[in-house]
Amino acid sequence: MNFLWLVTVHHTWKAVLFSVIYLMVQMWIPCEAFSGQQNCPSVCSCSNQFSKVVCTRRGLSEVPQGIPSNTRYLNLMENNIHMIQADTFRHLHHLEVLQLGRNIIRQIEVGAFNGLASLNTLELFDNRLTVIPSGAFEYLSKLRELWLRNNPIESIPSYAFNRVPSLMRLDLGELKKLEYISEGAFEGLYNLKYLNLGMCNIRDMPNLTPLIGLEELEISGNNFPEIKPGSFYGLRALKKLWIMNSQINTIERNAFDDLTSLVELNLAHNNLSSLPHELFAHLRYLVELHLHHNPWDCDCDVLWLASWLREYIPTNSTCCGRCHSPPHMKGKYVVEVDHSSFQCSAPFIMDAPRDLNISEGRVAELKCRTSAMSSVRWLLPNGTVLSHASNHPRITILNDGTLNFSHVLLTDTGVYTCMVTNVAGNSNASAYLNVSTAELNTSNYSFFTTVTVETTDMAPEDISMIIKPVPTTSTGYQPAYTTTTTVLVQTTKMPKQVAVPTSDAGDKMQTSLDEVMKTTKIIIGCFVAVTLLAAAMLIVFYKLRKRHQQRSTVAAARTVEIIQVDEDIPSGSPTGVSGEGAVVLPTIHDHMNFNTYKPAHHGAHWTANSIGNSLHSTITTISEPYIIQTHTKEKVQETQI
Ligand SMILES: *[C@@H]1O[C@H](CO)[C@@H](O)[C@H](O)[C@H]1NC(C)=O
Ligand SMILES: *[C@@H]1O[C@H](CO)[C@@H](O)[C@H](O)[C@H]1NC(C)=O
Ligand SMILES: *[C@@H]1O[C@H](CO)[C@@H](O)[C@H](O)[C@H]1NC(C)=O
Ligand SMILES: *[C@@H]1O[C@H](CO)[C@@H](O)[C@H](O)[C@H]1NC(C)=O
Ligand SMILES: *[C@@H]1O[C@H](CO)[C@@H](O)[C@H](O)[C@H]1NC(C)=O
Ligand SMILES: *[C@@H]1O[C@H](CO)[C@@H](O)[C@H](O)[C@H]1NC(C)=O
Ligand SMILES: *[C@@H]1O[C@H](CO)[C@@H](O)[C@H](O)[C@H]1NC(C)=O
Ligand SMILES: *[C@@H]1O[C@H](CO)[C@@H](O)[C@H](O)[C@H]1NC(C)=O
Ligand SMILES: *[C@@H]1O[C@H](CO)[C@@H](O)[C@H](O)[C@H]1NC(C)=O
Repeated sequence: MNFLWLVTVHHTWKAVLFSVIYLMVQMWIPCEAFSGQQNCPSVCSCSNQFSKVVCTRRGLSEVPQGIPSNTRYLNLMENNIHMIQADTFRHLHHLEVLQLGRNIIRQIEVGAFNGLASLNTLELFDNRLTVIPSGAFEYLSKLRELWLRNNPIESIPSYAFNRVPSLMRLDLGELKKLEYISEGAFEGLYNLKYLNLGMCNIRDMPNLTPLIGLEELEISGNNFPEIKPGSFYGLRALKKLWIMNSQINTIERNAFDDLTSLVELNLAHNNLSSLPHELFAHLRYLVELHLHHNPWDCDCDVLWLASWLREYIPTNSTCCGRCHSPPHMKGKYVVEVDHSSFQCSAPFIMDAPRDLNISEGRVAELKCRTSAMSSVRWLLPNGTVLSHASNHPRITILNDGTLNFSHVLLTDTGVYTCMVTNVAGNSNASAYLNVSTAELNTSNYSFFTTVTVETTDMAPEDISMIIKPVPTTSTGYQPAYTTTTTVLVQTTKMPKQVAVPTSDAGDKMQTSLDEVMKTTKIIIGCFVAVTLLAAAMLIVFYKLRKRHQQRSTVAAARTVEIIQVDEDIPSGSPTGVSGEGAVVLPTIHDHMNFNTYKPAHHGAHWTANSIGNSLHSTITTISEPYIIQTHTKEKVQETQI
């Protein structure tokens, strides 16, 4: 009985074993045919005919091999993956969602996401990335969502997301180590609709201008004591803006001007005690405004806000800012404050506009500085009234009330009145703007001068001295004239080049008279020095040529350059002079080094003209001392006779 049972069991086992083997072989053949692609990796679970592969919490230290090629959704979250190598997902052409969050990924190689032509969501949150793996984003042409939240990323460089212009949602929240966001960080993201930069320790509003399609911006939990005009420049599609918990003390009047589509603004949990008048003037669609948990100061300054809220915000349930001071108002809703509660005084113009004579085409400003809590409007000569909400192409009201003309026209001439209003009254101040036709202004451009003394093998008998006044480009004005004086000096076949750049284009513009005088003196000194040097050289050449004609020595080719003294070369250092064969101008000595040169037939026609021209113009750059440097002492001696 026992034996019989055993035999039966044995047979059953055999049968089972056989069928298992048979099944495996059956499975294997198609698997071989499809190179293992229809096989679920043993550590993962697959569903929907392998289109969904889940390998969460398997303690994986790398991406498992053999993920089926028709996978659309791959979840590798909560493992110990530390690196993504190039071509890891190469065969997953159909993958749409790749979840790599909550691993310990430190490195993503360039090419890591190659082949993911269908990927639309890439999750990399809660990892250990210290840089944005921009190089790996190549070819992710369908990527719409990128999650990089909570990584120790330190900086966002220019063009970080340039390779994924299809991106619509970008989560960069909780980058707690973030120290730097480049001006061009968001360049190329013109399809982006949602951006999270919350809790990133940001202190200066980053440049969001490229995000022309942005609709939602979460930038709470940072530190912006001040929101400056132009902070949200260019975000004309923005509908929701959250700036909570950011220690905001001040919002400048023109801060939100570009947010013309804004519907919801959340300023809760900040340190705001007041807001400037007409802050919301451009925000025609704003209906939801959160102002709670701010220490609102309920005096005259808050009255405009209260009446604005009553007029434009449909219910007060969303705003619910409450007064913090003065004591008798504490706890009261801002929206309920009215002027019966206190005495207010008419606005005071701190900086009134003054009459201005100006020539056509220039930038002009008419000041009208007042407290930010009063409204400022400008009455133009033709009766038009400009306010902060006006979008005049040429004339704008700055956040402090100043009227700014990007360029004045003759027709702008007239009386301008600044009208300042608050709940208690108004104040006016007027000024006359007198625009005259542009006159020739010869003092608004300047020169720097290049002196080049050169000879070549092609023209061995010539030393050309080219004096070129070059207008400085930094003034932005066109020069009225340029002068080029060319002095030809004959010499032997000594190829040599002497270049004297007399100013550094990188120098800051120096306009004070002292500096101009100093510069002029230095330049005159240099001219004199170069002239003397040239003259001395010519005399020496002349003398030596006579001798030289008797001997038939072939002189070696050489180059002499006058170069600008760098900061690290001690100017006028005697060691430099003797050691390097260098000569410091304007103290000309050692010119005997050049005593192989032959005298010329023509004198140096050093026209006073060129110097004169330079003197007429404002020389706004500082010249530095120059050295004449021969390349090698040996060569000089070699050519000496
Ligand atoms: C809040 O603002 C007040 C002045 O309005 C300032 O004295 C205070 O230091 C600010 N607090 C913080 C935390 O910034
Ligand atoms: C504003 O909301 C608060 C709380 O919801 C309510 O008590 C108050 O009456 C409301 N005020 C107005 C003017 O509707
Ligand atoms: C403007 O020009 C007129 C006439 O030259 C002169 O009387 C007036 O003082 C000038 N005003 C200013 C502000 O320079
Ligand atoms: C008044 O002058 C401003 C500024 O030059 C101009 O933009 C505006 O069109 C003028 N208005 C009228 C009614 O002429
Ligand atoms: C005034 O307008 C000009 C031209 O638009 C601009 O360059 C300048 O910065 C403005 N001034 C201020 C103080 O904003
Ligand atoms: C200021 O100008 C406005 C508009 O012209 C006028 O209504 C108002 O009375 C003036 N106020 C003062 C104090 O001059
Ligand atoms: C306006 O300026 C021009 C040129 O500066 C001057 O000749 C003219 O007198 C000025 N007009 C007034 C009314 O100030
Ligand atoms: C100087 O500047 C004025 C105003 O911008 C311009 O009209 C004039 O042409 C300039 N003068 C020269 C010589 O470039
Ligand atoms: C000429 O240009 C200089 C420098 O740009 C400027 O300071 C000066 O006011 C201008 N003169 C006139 C009359 O526009």
